[in-house]
Amino acid sequence: MASDVFVARLNSGAPGRRGFLNWLLGAWAAGVAGSILYPVIRYLIPPEIPEASTQSVNAGKASALALNSGRIVPFGSVPAILVRTAAGDYRAFSATCTHLACTVQYRPDLEHIWCACHNGHYDLTGRNIAGPPPRPLEAYQVNVANDELIVSKKP
Ligand code: FES
Repeated sequence: MASDVFVARLNSGAPGRRGFLNWLLGAWAAGVAGSILYPVIRYLIPPEIPEASTQSVNAGKASALALNSGRIVPFGSVPAILVRTAAGDYRAFSATCTHLACTVQYRPDLEHIWCACHNGHYDLTGRNIAGPPPRPLEAYQVNVANDELIVSKKP
């Protein structure tokens, strides 16, 4: 009964209210359509991801890396592993395991690089020597200048 009165008032000469309700309904419909279309459009047209263009990074003090140890350093948006062998050589590789992209680590007890995810092993040239990794790690170049370790992509 009360709703009939309300509808009758709406239909009979309250253009301000009707206009407001139409505007409210339109805004609601636009909001619903936007919340449905936005994720669909983002899925169909994903944002561009800048390719890792890093060619060289400063990996810190050479004197801070002990013999037979390693550390992970950021190489642009991806990790790299920097190793100082027991003989004192510096080596660097991509730290992304070639199996399923876990981050590898240095194992001083084994004196080589190891992936904890599925027990993958790499020697100190980056070659995959045991476990599931199908390919070697990408090797980087290491230069020491004024006690700073510079890790670079190989030309
Ligand atoms: S992700 Fe490294 S061994 Fe599987």
